[in-house]
Amino acid sequence: MATQVHLDPAATLAQRLFATRKLTLDLAAPLSDADATIQPFPDASPAKWHLAHTTWFFETFVLRDHVAGYRPFDDRYAFLFNSYYEAEGPRHARPHRGMLSRPSLDQIRGYRAHVDEALDRALPSLSAAALDLVELGINHEQQHQELFLTDILATLAENPIEPVFAELPPPACFAAEPLTYHPGREGIVEVGASDAAFAFDCEGPRHRVFLNAHRIANRRVTNREWREFIDDGGYRSPTHWLSDGWAWVEQHGLACPLYWREEGTEFTLAGRREIDWAAPVAHVSHYEADAFARWAGVRLPTEAEWEDFAASADPMIGNQLDAAGAVAPRPGGGMFGDVWEWTQSAYSAYPGFATAVGAVGEYNGKFMSGQIVLKGASCATPRGHSRASYRNFFPPATRWQFTGVRLAQDA
Ligand SMILES: [Fe+2]
Repeated sequence: MATQVHLDPAATLAQRLFATRKLTLDLAAPLSDADATIQPFPDASPAKWHLAHTTWFFETFVLRDHVAGYRPFDDRYAFLFNSYYEAEGPRHARPHRGMLSRPSLDQIRGYRAHVDEALDRALPSLSAAALDLVELGINHEQQHQELFLTDILATLAENPIEPVFAELPPPACFAAEPLTYHPGREGIVEVGASDAAFAFDCEGPRHRVFLNAHRIANRRVTNREWREFIDDGGYRSPTHWLSDGWAWVEQHGLACPLYWREEGTEFTLAGRREIDWAAPVAHVSHYEADAFARWAGVRLPTEAEWEDFAASADPMIGNQLDAAGAVAPRPGGGMFGDVWEWTQSAYSAYPGFATAVGAVGEYNGKFMSGQIVLKGASCATPRGHSRASYRNFFPPATRWQFTGVRLAQDA
């Protein structure tokens, strides 16, 4: 897939901005207007909406607020493409995003071009505060590139003729090593983003935590191991499950990961394929991840254990930063790639966390309820968008993202 574009960390802000904007268009290139209009379920969004909403973000928070005389492309779009910003006023209901046959995909491409041209003209004279918002807008659009791919997968998975979106890259972890556990650090460690480079507000402040003695697995749980869990009655044994998780399994009659199909196959962005049994299991919820860990007699890592382990770069596990400072997934291991990894940690504020002033203060802080932190990155995460302090988060029943499992244990 086209997410494997490598952005030079030394590239200018303008280069990174327009490379990011172009990548979004490239991702959408295989789609028809109809493909781009479907919303497969209320939590997912149409491809067309992602293209427009990321554009609205720049138009609103950079051009409208910081460029004198900027004229919006269409005054009605703020209502259509505001996602959840209460400070920006009323908006189209999220579950109805798939009802919008107009504007067309071509009109949305025109919207993108209008905003890109205005950004290009404005960049040389933007204030430092506005340039920070451009940086936030780039990172925001990268998040939506991943959502774009997971939402397209959910869309095409609804179609019995099983369309192919794109050829897949080989898994980063293509040869499963034997499962081994490695000691993490014990005692007081520091986690969270420092101020040295861009990070989302929820990743900081950097702060101290105490880690009890623990060990972390060298790799993610594989499809083969998940098959053993199923064959051992994992989805039929309430004793493995959190109470909410068991109620969820029973309510939906679940018995396997989201996209597993007839025996031995799964639906992917490349259509239906044989399951690669050595590859990491994907599209499992936090409830499933937790149940698997209990079945295996271990547990999920905490987010602090995971982050400190990734940042301390155990040479046994390999990893993670190449010479240019970018995360480089390593065959057989590494902490970044293939699937996001569920932790056992609730998504909440770090000590000293403060929301930003203005509407962008709604970016992360207001979602700190009922969500679980995931660490790492997935095959759909744009290169250059991964770091140890990153805190992805979803409600515990979520599984349409590329989500998997790394195990941990008390030492
Ligand atoms: Fe957004």
